[in-house]
Amino acid sequence: MPPLPNDAGTSTPLTRRNFLARLGVLSAAVAGAGLLTACGGVPLAVTPITRPENSDSPLTEAASAKAMLFGAATGQWCLQSDPQFAAAFAQHAGLLVPENELKWDTVEPQPGVFNFGPGDWLADFAARNGMLFRGHTLVWHNQTPSWVGVNVTSAQAEQQLTNHIAQTVAHYAGRVHSWDVVNEAINPGDGRSDYLRNTVWLNALGPGYIETAFRAAAAADPAALLVYNDYGFEYDTDDAALRRAGILRLLTSLKASGTPLHALGIQAHLEGTTTAGFTRLPGFLQQIADLGLKIFVTELDVCDRSLPADTQTRDTIVADVYQRFLDVVLQQIAVAGVITWGLSDRYTWLSQFAPRSDGRPVRPLPLDGNYQAKPAVWAILNAFNAAVRRGA
Ligand code: G3I
Repeated sequence: MPPLPNDAGTSTPLTRRNFLARLGVLSAAVAGAGLLTACGGVPLAVTPITRPENSDSPLTEAASAKAMLFGAATGQWCLQSDPQFAAAFAQHAGLLVPENELKWDTVEPQPGVFNFGPGDWLADFAARNGMLFRGHTLVWHNQTPSWVGVNVTSAQAEQQLTNHIAQTVAHYAGRVHSWDVVNEAINPGDGRSDYLRNTVWLNALGPGYIETAFRAAAAADPAALLVYNDYGFEYDTDDAALRRAGILRLLTSLKASGTPLHALGIQAHLEGTTTAGFTRLPGFLQQIADLGLKIFVTELDVCDRSLPADTQTRDTIVADVYQRFLDVVLQQIAVAGVITWGLSDRYTWLSQFAPRSDGRPVRPLPLDGNYQAKPAVWAILNAFNAAVRRGA
């Protein structure tokens, strides 16, 4: 199969490693200038976010006014141990997605041994607070127990896959808004001409594992929206262009085969220091919409590890990225909602995965560590306020 074209017109994949290396150079400039600088070192003025008239509105309220949803990921331990955070979460989020509690390593740690306790606790919290509940994720190459797909025949691997999905989705049937059925199946760096990631499932079952997973989920809960979720295709970079090409090819093929696929999830883990824009994203989103798919922003946050230390400068730059990204994405009428990956800076995966070299707490999310609104909240409100109301 010939290598896929990409919308950048180039074919040299920009690997994540050298992309981050380039980011390092830019970050050094930012640390000195205190402003975002383009590759040429010319400071880019970042205008402070306009405070909307409804600046005190809960984020879910502004989303609902346009028939969209706003939600966030969180964990049982955050909500159970921190009543102030739980109250802020209940105020702003109209949807809850478990950050880790519905992943394979928690749900089925041993073959046939299911642990729905943590997921049930979160589903009950969502129900008690009138929130939608979202499942993340059924099939992923991370946080999957080491026994899965190993030393088994193809038939046994398929049985593992379909049984996990059937048991998990059936357990929550009727309570779930949407499921990330397959997560991050595209990885151009693995060198395949179809850009699929080399995973235990691809090796055991071939590319058909993806359709198999979606069909198993649909059989267990016909009411749930079934989502393909992925990352790294938001920006105008070479790597993102290859990922867009791979995702479009995959979703086109799934729809052509009648796979019960309803939406694309854009993770949108964005970077505060990149100057790459989002100019190629609208065309791609329209291609996705033309397949009859909805689109959700599913894991939005803005990494600030290489931004200046000053919190006001950082918060302004982070909010500017939220605003620029959402202004682009919400213009696509197929986009039905925005979910951030965490809600308060007190609880973010980036503290562990992308800490700042100066040791200061990271600030990637809408609320600060004391659950107060940051300019990023205004940016999200501005974007919802400006968006066209979705049809009923
Ligand atoms: O549960 C164990 C605990 O028993 C142990 O004591 C502790 C220390 O080793 O680790 C705990 O597991 C951690 C798990 O989060 C639950 O807290 C893992 O080490 C840690 O790696 C894991 O990180 C999660 C990460 O996915 C794994 O790749 C993050 O919390 C989670 O936010 C992140 O989320 C992913 C999405 O699912 C998919 N998209 C990308 C996103 C960010 O990587």
